[in-house]
Amino acid sequence: MKRYHLTTFGCQMNEHDSERMKGMLESLGYGEAAERSEADLILFNTCSIRETADSRFIAHLGEAKRLKGENPERVIGVGGCWAQSLKDEVFERFPFVDVAFGPGQVHKLAEFLTSDSLTAQGYFEFEGFTGHLPARRERPFQGWLQISVGCNCACSYCIVPSTRGREVSRRLQELVGEVETMAAEGVREVTLLGQNVNSYGRDLRERASFAELLRLLDGIEGIDRIRYTSPHPKDMREDVIRAHAELESVCEHIHLPLQSGSSRILKAMRRTYDRARYMDRVALIREHVPDAALSTDIIVGFPGETEADFAETLEVVAEVGYDSAFTFIFSPRRGTEAAEITEGVVPHPVKVERMERLVELVQRGARERAQRFVGRTVEVLVEGASRTDPERQRGRTRHNKVVNFAGLAQPGEMADVEIMKATSQTLLGEERLLARAVS
Ligand code: 5AD
Ligand code: SF4
Repeated sequence: MKRYHLTTFGCQMNEHDSERMKGMLESLGYGEAAERSEADLILFNTCSIRETADSRFIAHLGEAKRLKGENPERVIGVGGCWAQSLKDEVFERFPFVDVAFGPGQVHKLAEFLTSDSLTAQGYFEFEGFTGHLPARRERPFQGWLQISVGCNCACSYCIVPSTRGREVSRRLQELVGEVETMAAEGVREVTLLGQNVNSYGRDLRERASFAELLRLLDGIEGIDRIRYTSPHPKDMREDVIRAHAELESVCEHIHLPLQSGSSRILKAMRRTYDRARYMDRVALIREHVPDAALSTDIIVGFPGETEADFAETLEVVAEVGYDSAFTFIFSPRRGTEAAEITEGVVPHPVKVERMERLVELVQRGARERAQRFVGRTVEVLVEGASRTDPERQRGRTRHNKVVNFAGLAQPGEMADVEIMKATSQTLLGEERLLARAVS
């Protein structure tokens, strides 16, 4: 049996594509190799969102080159956003690569592997969502659903519109059918994926809205939890926010990327909302779902960001009260508008110093927010053993908080867990066998 080894970088979309790649490879008769050195087919699913993503991947590619040198029969494949952003240049710069393909082009990898071609091949067309491949899920009770591909936004820092193309939504009934199948296979929690999930359906001939999709999926028997990532604040309408309050399976967690708290910088980023509009969305969320957990993405050191702009970001963070936040140092990306800005470039030490202040504030806020769970009994979907203490179980609350707890519940089961302690990142608790979950 031929064996493959796949390394995944980047976001959940890539993780989902990798699941589909694994499913596809296994249907072609490949088995998974534990080590790269044992594989006939070495694959990478790449990301290009920041420079650090590129450089981490290049280090791995070096090992693949050495292994190919040892055995030229090995096939090296590179998929995903980094491959797409370089296209055919991949083969000039890395001649040992046999096949390169853009995000979502899992079926093209299959085509390459089943053809007799001995020459290097690149597949970089934007085709919308391709293929109904069996996904090999990492956990049988959690599934991903890609609701759209591509992105019509023009955020000036972001490489994604150029790596994933224009937005194409998948048809409503097709998505409902896919989730029904997932439910029949034992999936209890589904995460909807898209670059801008809440603009879903606007490009379809039979118009559909994201809120409508949520309502239909909520009606599917067996699906206990629905999550999604990422919405865009500009498209965050009241119907979607109300869905969190009204639909039982839609979780009380919203990831609402802020990027900056300064309206001036938001404009330069081409985010198409300002600070006031963002805060208005937050107020609407708090009104309908008072206890919702909010998380966000923030970039520090965008060109032109002054200390006063950054102070506004800190103000917004303090005002919103995020349960968690991903923070990034601005990284110029090839082909993006922001990479061309030469004025007001923020020196690296200043970026780092701002980042430190931001992280400190985010962690303090998250720690304080997490205290509201102490003493509550919450519903936890068990994912496996705790990473730090194998005696304990680990799972997630509807608010997307990681909980380590002592109890008997097994992976895939819901447990009622009383929370004893909360840090900025995790909750600690004990399973209550006779309790009724309150949140
Ligand atoms: N530099 C830094 N962070 C970036 N992100 C996207 N592009 C860049 C960039 N060029 C961040 C944004 C986005 C998250 C996925 O990555 O915050 O929401
Ligand atoms: Fe990376 Fe963005 Fe591509 Fe996801 S969409 S793999 S985060 S570049």
